[in-house]
Order: sequence, then C-alpha cells, then structure tokens
Amino acid sequence: MPTTKERVLSELMAQQGAWVSGEQFSSQLGISRSAIWKHINALKNDGHEIQSAPKKGYRLQRTADRMLPEAIAATLTTQRIGRNILTCLEQTDSTNVEAKALAAQGAPEGTVVVAESQNQGRGRRGRTWFSPAGRNIYTSIVLRPILSPAQAPQITLMTGVAVAKTLVRFASLEAKIKWPNDILIHGKKIAGILTEVSTDMDMVDHVVVGIGINVNISAQEMPKDIQQTATSVRMATGMHHCRVALLCALLDQFERSYNRLKSSGFPAIMAQWRRMSDIIGQPVYVDVMDKRYQGVVATVDDDGVLILKDASGGTHRIFSGDVTRLRKE
Ligand code: BTN
Repeated sequence: MPTTKERVLSELMAQQGAWVSGEQFSSQLGISRSAIWKHINALKNDGHEIQSAPKKGYRLQRTADRMLPEAIAATLTTQRIGRNILTCLEQTDSTNVEAKALAAQGAPEGTVVVAESQNQGRGRRGRTWFSPAGRNIYTSIVLRPILSPAQAPQITLMTGVAVAKTLVRFASLEAKIKWPNDILIHGKKIAGILTEVSTDMDMVDHVVVGIGINVNISAQEMPKDIQQTATSVRMATGMHHCRVALLCALLDQFERSYNRLKSSGFPAIMAQWRRMSDIIGQPVYVDVMDKRYQGVVATVDDDGVLILKDASGGTHRIFSGDVTRLRKE
C-alpha cells in the first residue's frame, strides 16, 4: 500500500507539471488540506521542486534525483517486482548482503533493495564495485524460482538480457552482453550483475540478483584503474538521466524477462541473449581458475555454456570464466 506521501507525489507526477488545487488533492486522497500541505513540505525537504501558489495549488517542477521510496513507487509499472518490500537505503555495505538477509528471513519473491551508495559494493570473483552516492544505480532483487542449482545461471543470463534491453529502450544505447553478464557500450563496461544463490536440499531456495548500472558518473569521478574500461549512461549519451526512471524501467524489463523465462523457457531467453552478445564469432581468451583457453567463440548454447573452438580444432565447453576479446572493435 502506498503511503499518503507517495500518493501525493504520484498525483503531482500524473499531472505532468500542471497545477493541482488543494481541494482536488484533499477530495482525491481523503485528507485535509493542512495534511496535504504537510506532505508537500516533506516532499520539498526530500529535494522535489514543488511550486505552490494561492488559488492555483501545487505543481511539480522537478523530482529529486534520489532513490526515494515514494518516487520509485509513483513511477513503478511492475506487477510483483518491487511491490512487496522496497527498501531504499542511504548507505549500505552491499544491497546483495541486505537482500540476502531479507531473503533468509523469508522475504517474498520480488523484494527489492536499492541504495544511494555502498561502502562494500561487490563484483564478481571477489572484486569490488565502485559505488559512490547520488550517481548510479545499485539494486538487488530477491527471486524464488523453481530451479535446480545447476539451472541457477539461467537467472544471470536472463538478467543480462533485461539490463541490456533496458539500456537500448531507455537511452537508445547499443548495449551488448559479454558472457556471462557484463553489459558493454562500445566495449566499455556500463553495468554488472552479481547473482548469489541459496539452495535448500537439491533445489534453489532463493536467488539474489544484484545489478549495478553506471548512470550519471563522469570518467573523472571514476577510480583511475577503470577510467579506460568503464562508461556510464551519461558518458555514452552526453545527457544526465533520472535514476529513478531508469531503475523503474529496469525493474519493468526485468519482470518481463523473468515472466518470459517462466512461460517460454530458457532457450527463448538465450535466443535474445545471442542477438545482444558481442562475443559470438570473436577471437577471445577465457580465464577459468588458473587456466587460459584461447580460440573463437562458436556460440553460447541453450544451456548458457560458452563453446570455444581453439586453433587446433578442439572444442571447449566452458561453464564459467572471464572472457577477454582479442580484437578490439
Ligand atoms: C560485476 O560485474 O563484477 C558485478 C557487479 C555487481 C554490482 C552490483 S551493485 C548492486 C549489488 N550489490 C553489490 O554489492 N553488488 C551488486
């Protein structure tokens, strides 16, 4: 159930900058005009720019670009994802850690954690994920899919498709997926996915899908070691973007892709994945633990396994690893 503050913001957003009178507000929301005034002040304190004028009422000039629950709730278009519990934190160690704790306490599928910043943002293979405040998206989603542990990577690959599609649709970017789950724009990383699986006997109990998207960060704000290899939506488009709108577009696309996985099966997701991949047919090397394989990527099959052909005609089926392209675009 949205709070009254969320409903006030929703109504202002629905008016798209037009005036809403105090009477209109109080009859729609069933609360007094002084209560409306109190909620408007609270929204202003959160950083939303709201104009008020006698006889006219209120109008929203600009929403705060902050990950506030009422702004997200007012924009969200999903049925389940983000509808039950949406925890928005100013700062946390890692949204994955928070979401895992909620899942362990029984949080339902679709629970979402969002943070403004993370002080121990985690990447794949024990790496860190740079997570400064106010610039990017850091979110984790709890799922409870009916899958065996061996099938759990389906969720990671499905998420890659959802993130790439979101960037194509939201910002007209040519987003590509590097196996298994890096999202790239012209070869530079814009988003990463960290999936953590918890099993119960021989089935998955829950999966926490962590997604980080570089949104408004500039190259100068990034640590030196990633300045050449990372990008952001702003760097790629030349424009500042509303993080709340992008998060809601992401959750919407994520729900669609997850529903598709459940209704049409994993091969349908893999067909989309291959269309968005930037490595099929490319010479690469793949680091798997302490071993390096070199060759051309023949495909990523319907089980999400990377099929690599080496120079001597050998075929390698690779289940997980780090891919590096040998020829740059
Ligand atoms: C990678 O490419 O290495 C994966 C990066 C995943 C980063 C996200 S940000 C939200 C969530 N919380 C974390 O600590 N990590 C993931």
